[in-house]
Amino acid sequence: MTLLAIETSCDETSAAVVRNGSVLSNSVSSQIQLHAEYGGVVPELAAREHLRNFLPVARAALSEAKISAAGVDAVAATQGPGLPTALLVGFKAAQAIAFALRKPFIGIHHHEAHLYSPWTSGDPPAAHFELFQPNVSLIVSGGHTLLVLAESELKHRVLGSTMDDAAGECFDKTGKLMGLPYPAGPEIDKLAEDGNPAAYDFPRPLLNEAGDDFSFSGLKTSVRYFLRDNPRLLEDAQRLRDLCAGIQAAIVDVLVKKTIRAAQREGVRCVTASGGVSCNRALRDELSRACRRFGFDFHPAEKSFCTDNAAMIGILAERKLLAGAVPNSLDDEIAPSWQLATP
Ligand code: KG4
Ligand code: ZN
Repeated sequence: MTLLAIETSCDETSAAVVRNGSVLSNSVSSQIQLHAEYGGVVPELAAREHLRNFLPVARAALSEAKISAAGVDAVAATQGPGLPTALLVGFKAAQAIAFALRKPFIGIHHHEAHLYSPWTSGDPPAAHFELFQPNVSLIVSGGHTLLVLAESELKHRVLGSTMDDAAGECFDKTGKLMGLPYPAGPEIDKLAEDGNPAAYDFPRPLLNEAGDDFSFSGLKTSVRYFLRDNPRLLEDAQRLRDLCAGIQAAIVDVLVKKTIRAAQREGVRCVTASGGVSCNRALRDELSRACRRFGFDFHPAEKSFCTDNAAMIGILAERKLLAGAVPNSLDDEIAPSWQLATP
């Protein structure tokens, strides 16, 4: 089966072609530069940019996969959750393509697709769901922070999520307080490399509480007060690096310890990670080290599949169609606040 998949839930316009579990192409146009001057994603601008980029990105995906539209057997698109106007562009365009080609159309849950991004690559590439192991999956980005138990293919349960800010939002907002450009996550990652994570001690919210939920707004507030009380600190390059390392260590510590604790309790043997924040070097290193120490396989998404992409949408869509999922009606609507629930 050859699928054309579309993702436009936030600020990446992406189209991918997937066949028999392998990603033939994954074309992504990122809007980061456009939103940088506003310090965050502006929904209306994102939607307009998706409109502008949709056709070039879809054509690039088909051409890289060396197929024409006539070679597409099914079309998939992110149905939710996400920014309503952004979702609308990709979802309605994908329905129109399915209508024109007279092919089935399937709407996909964005977070459920993230569960598949660690399985979209590899050698040999993915068809390979025999590789799929029951796992605890950490999904961390600018919009979401979730711990999910993926018991088997297409069967999962949300264990915990953030009660306030997402982990990526915490990187971005504390970065803004330090005067770093948006998105600050990658900048903090870079600066922290030469910083001392023990120089400043920041709170690890909910680390010692039972339960799998996260909270990051208190950490952001403590950085705000710290900077208020140390107004000259940012003028010293080494102290800025130390501060970045301290903030990153607090976020990573919470994410790693809670993930490992959930994996131990649920009795899985594998831990996965995806979402933009899972590009973070300290997070990948610490989670990998902790997994080794506690005997878990660690299977993070490749960096190019961590951020939002249509490949993960296509991989999940194909698995669903092969498992007998009923295609969506072509007049179905987007679902901006769709919750991930156990099927
Ligand atoms: O998955 P993504 O591209 O988009 C969504 O938010 O859905 O994730 C973007 C987020 C931003 O908050 C960004 O700062 C963060 O991922 N991020 C990072 C790193 N790379 C991206 N955070 C920490 N370290 C990184 N290396
Ligand atoms: Zn995402």
